[in-house]
Amino acid sequence: MMFKKLISYLIPVTIFLSKSSLSKSLEVTWVKGKLILDSENTNYSYGDLQDILRLGLKEIGFAKVKSMDEVLVLGVAGGSVVKTLVDEINFDGKITGVEIDPSVIDIANKFFKLNEISQLDIIVEDAFEYILKTKNTYDLIIIDIFQDTKMPNFLFESYFVNRICTLINDYGAVLFNTMLLSDNDNKRNEKYVNDFDLANFKIRTIPRVEQHNELIVIEKQM
Ligand SMILES: C[S@@+](CC[C@H](N)C(=O)[O-])C[C@H]1O[C@@H](n2cnc3c(N)ncnc32)[C@H](O)[C@@H]1O
Repeated sequence: MMFKKLISYLIPVTIFLSKSSLSKSLEVTWVKGKLILDSENTNYSYGDLQDILRLGLKEIGFAKVKSMDEVLVLGVAGGSVVKTLVDEINFDGKITGVEIDPSVIDIANKFFKLNEISQLDIIVEDAFEYILKTKNTYDLIIIDIFQDTKMPNFLFESYFVNRICTLINDYGAVLFNTMLLSDNDNKRNEKYVNDFDLANFKIRTIPRVEQHNELIVIEKQM
């Protein structure tokens, strides 16, 4: 393991590869001394993805996030945002992670030791099903759902958006990571923000740092 990590400062070293019906492939690779998880065409966990979500959390405010009690993460993969919450923000409340793909969770536990985080509860289920039936409410919901580069349509449907907003506690927030690969995707995001007119909520986008991602932040006022 140490040797592969050292070599990775020169060239990336893949240490695990499997086919996946949902993500096309799942690949664990050492890159410049860091272990990352990729699907066939995009970074899933750690690497750029972790930087993007960290930026979103910074925009909401690390201090505000630290003071929260309950966080829901939809789309867990290797759990890099969970590590940011626990190791960097020192968040000590409860984290619930919902992930549709059990093989992703096996990878998260084996290579990224997610099972050693005691405040994290992982539920293997479709996020849409979960938010329909949960009776819990949350201070922060992180939506980070991709099937390789594709975002399922339900994420942009008003039924899902409204349901998410009913699960948010007063003064809570939603951090929604989106990918923009075409003009249609740009229009989809513009429509999402323009059509959003729920009372007591504010919506904004964060100017993108990574070429293809745009973060949407929704904050509940009271
Ligand atoms: C970009 S990764 C998540 C990265 C993670 N948030 C992190 O911080 O490392 C996207 C994940 O969404 C999962 N996913 C896709 N569709 C889903 C669904 N309907 N419900 C729950 N998870 C889903 C994929 O299996 C994949 O693991």
